[in-house]
Amino acid sequence: MTTPWNHRYAQRMHWMGSSAIRELLKLAEQPDIISFAGGLPAPELFPVAEFAAANERVLARTGQRALQYSTTEGYLPLREFLVNKMAQYGILVGPENVLITSGSQQALDMIGKILINPGDLILTEAPTYLGALQAWNAYQAEYDTVPIDDEGICTDLLEEALAGGPKFMYILPNFQNPGGVTLSLKRRQALVRIADRYGVPIIEDDPYGELRFEGDHLPPLVVQDARRLNGANGSGFYRGNVIYLSTFSKTLAPGLRLGWMVAPVEVIQHCVIAKQGMDLHTSTLNQMVAYEVISQDGFLKNHVREIRQVYRDRRDVMLAAMAQYFPAEVQWTRPQGGLFLWVTLPEPLDSERLLPQAIANKVAYVPGHVFYPDGRGRSSMRLNFSNAQPAQIEIGIRRLGQVFTEALQKQKRVDYALA
Ligand SMILES: Cc1ncc(COP(=O)(O)O)c(C=O)c1O
Repeated sequence: MTTPWNHRYAQRMHWMGSSAIRELLKLAEQPDIISFAGGLPAPELFPVAEFAAANERVLARTGQRALQYSTTEGYLPLREFLVNKMAQYGILVGPENVLITSGSQQALDMIGKILINPGDLILTEAPTYLGALQAWNAYQAEYDTVPIDDEGICTDLLEEALAGGPKFMYILPNFQNPGGVTLSLKRRQALVRIADRYGVPIIEDDPYGELRFEGDHLPPLVVQDARRLNGANGSGFYRGNVIYLSTFSKTLAPGLRLGWMVAPVEVIQHCVIAKQGMDLHTSTLNQMVAYEVISQDGFLKNHVREIRQVYRDRRDVMLAAMAQYFPAEVQWTRPQGGLFLWVTLPEPLDSERLLPQAIANKVAYVPGHVFYPDGRGRSSMRLNFSNAQPAQIEIGIRRLGQVFTEALQKQKRVDYALA
C-alpha cells in the first residue's frame, strides 16, 4: 500500500526489517496461552512497597533536584555505588569509568552508534541476544558467528573468525540469552588472551551474572582483562579491551530502565556524546529512587537471594517436566542461573513452522532462528522459566511435549513413506 510516508523512510529501515515472528507472538499475549516466549522477570517479586516508600522520601527530601534535568553520566551516588559493587567483582574502576544508561539496551545502541560503520563486521556467539542484532542492524553491521556449546563460545574456533577482522566481539558470559549456557573459566581466560593477541575489543553483556542458582561465581572478562594488564591482582584503574554492561532490570525491575556501562574513560566520553543525542540522560527520579532503595543496608543482597530461589525452583520444575513430557529425541540445556534455556529438536523439525501448532495448543516459545544473524538454528527454540508460575510451567511443557510428539510421529511417517 502506498502512503505519503513510503518514500520518506531512511535506508537503514530496510536493515531493521519487521518480524513475522513478532506478529505471531502477539497471539501469545492472550491470557489463556502459557507463554515461555517473553524475557520477563517474575512481577510478583518487584519491590513495589520499597519503591513507593523510597519515592516518597526522595520527593520529600530533594524533590526539585529529582525532577530536574541532570548530567549525562548519571547520578554520582549511584555511580559510586556501582564502583563499589564492581569492586566486589574484582573490577577496580572510578566513577569516571561508569555511565548510567537507560537499560543495557541503550548501551548496545550507543555502542553501535560510536563504533559501527556500515559494513563493519561484528563477531557474535551463535545463537546470540536478539536485541543486540536489532540495535546493530540499524548501523548496517555485518556479522560473523562462532558457535556455543555447554561451556559457552567455542574458543578453539575463535582465531579463524578473528582473522576476518571484526570491529569487536559480543559475548554473554553468564546464563546466555538465549542458550542458557555459561562460559567456563578456561574459555574466559582463552578468550581474553586471544582477543588481546588480535587486538579485538570485547563487549561483555552481563545482565544475569547475579542470578546464579548453583556453581561458583566466575570472574567477568573485564576482570580477566584487568589482570592481564596489571598482573595477578588486577589493580590500577581500568584501561583495557573490554566494555562491560549490566542492568537493574533483572535484580530490581525492568520498567525502571536503569543499566550501566563500565569502560575505559575515553569510551565513556564517546558514549556520553552519543547519549546526549539519544535522551540527554537517564531519568533523574528513577536513578535517585533506585539508589535510595539499594542503599538500604542488605536490601539488594536479600532481594537477589529471593529472586534466585524462585527462579531456581521454576527452572527445576521446567527441567523435570521436560524430562517427563518431551520425546527422547529432544535435547535441552541446563542453566546454572538466569531466565532461559534452549531446546533443540531433531532435524528436520522446524520450530518456526511448529509455532502455530504450539499456539493452537495454548503454549508459546521463541523459534531459534531469530537468534542467529544468518537464520540458522531452525530446529531450536528459547524457553523462559522466570515468568510463569510453577503449575503453569508444568502444564505448558506438557502441551509442548504433545506438539513435539505429534510432529515427530508425522515426520516418521514421512520418512517411512520416502524410504
Ligand atoms: C543479553 C541482554 N542484554 C541486554 C538486555 C536489555 O536489558 P535492559 O532491560 O537493561 O535494557 C537484555 C534483556 O533481556 C538481555 O537479555
